[in-house]
Amino acid sequence: QELQMNLEQIEKGGYDHFMLKEICEQPNVIKDTYRGRLHANQGIIQMAGVEDNIEKFLNAERILIIACGTSWHAGLVAEYVIEEFARIPVEVEYASEFRYRNPIINKKDVVIAISQSGETADTLAAIKLAKERGAFVFGVCNVVGSSISRETHAGAYTHAGPEIGVASTKAFTTQITVLTMIALRLAKAKGTLSNSDFHRYLQELEVIPEKVLEALQTNDKAKEIAEKFKDASNCLYLGRGYNFPVALEGALKLKEISYIHAEGYPAAEMKHGPIALIDEQMPVVVIAPKQGHYDKVVSNIQEIKSRSGKIIAVVTKGDKQVKELADHVIEIPETSDALSPLVTTIPLQLLSYHIAVLRGCNVDQPRNLAKSVTVE
Ligand code: G6P
Repeated sequence: QELQMNLEQIEKGGYDHFMLKEICEQPNVIKDTYRGRLHANQGIIQMAGVEDNIEKFLNAERILIIACGTSWHAGLVAEYVIEEFARIPVEVEYASEFRYRNPIINKKDVVIAISQSGETADTLAAIKLAKERGAFVFGVCNVVGSSISRETHAGAYTHAGPEIGVASTKAFTTQITVLTMIALRLAKAKGTLSNSDFHRYLQELEVIPEKVLEALQTNDKAKEIAEKFKDASNCLYLGRGYNFPVALEGALKLKEISYIHAEGYPAAEMKHGPIALIDEQMPVVVIAPKQGHYDKVVSNIQEIKSRSGKIIAVVTKGDKQVKELADHVIEIPETSDALSPLVTTIPLQLLSYHIAVLRGCNVDQPRNLAKSVTVE
């Protein structure tokens, strides 16, 4: 028993939980993800699985992304990035819906299946269906040699290393890294990004690990905010554009490990429902970085404030406008809009982690959840 405990402590590398260890590993694992694939100075981005099948990607009339859970959120970020950079229409689907609804799949479709474990039953079944109907299926997996990595025609690993915490953290940011690289590679081939934008994004992606490291410095602030909101029974997460999926992921993290009911919404959709929930008891986490639809998000914040909601805002360092309106702000370094999810997601992971710890929850193994869902 004692030996078992010690082994576990060693595995956690001095952290109290695997989840915190994995959150803190993100600057390094994002580097591992792009190592050998991204050469910003030379303006090169290449992944073997993409290079070998570049024609399939370039001829694709549509990209279909299938995944579950957090991986599905990474897929939503990818939809925004691929459409913006490479101008290829993208659809994102829950694997469990896709597999049972007789979907339209064409030979010219490229299907991207995203899965940390590579073992999710619904995703695996969706891949088999897409293959039967003649689509080219590309996998983005973390676990090397997993069922999905074997079942797909080609793929790119995320190289995040083992993720033990049931709530996915580093898998999410490394999936976004791979998918952003794919978008950039396709943009280069299609000429859909200007040369200067292409180079700027490559340079910026290369320094993202440093920005993630800086975002990790919000840990104390996240803990302080967690203390104030640990007894909340509901929480709303809002974001727009690239940060709408981040809002969904932030809410998922909170509900998974703290059992607080949380919902993510595109900020502008608030007026079509969730606004009815807002009162002085309701914490609202708003992702409001400077790049992006800042002014629009500021007006959404005003709408929350006028209804006495408690505002926790993730803002760009040096922000003044939101600071005046929000009850709490978490400052992160500036990034371009398209790459911001890699950074904005960090304080949200930390916030849910601390809330769950303060509530005495089993952070690494939350009730009723499994790390990989190999049955329907
Ligand atoms: C489970 C896990 C989630 C994960 C989802 C999809 O629900 O608890 O963390 O996002 O499965 O898993 P996958 O391994 O396919 O990414």
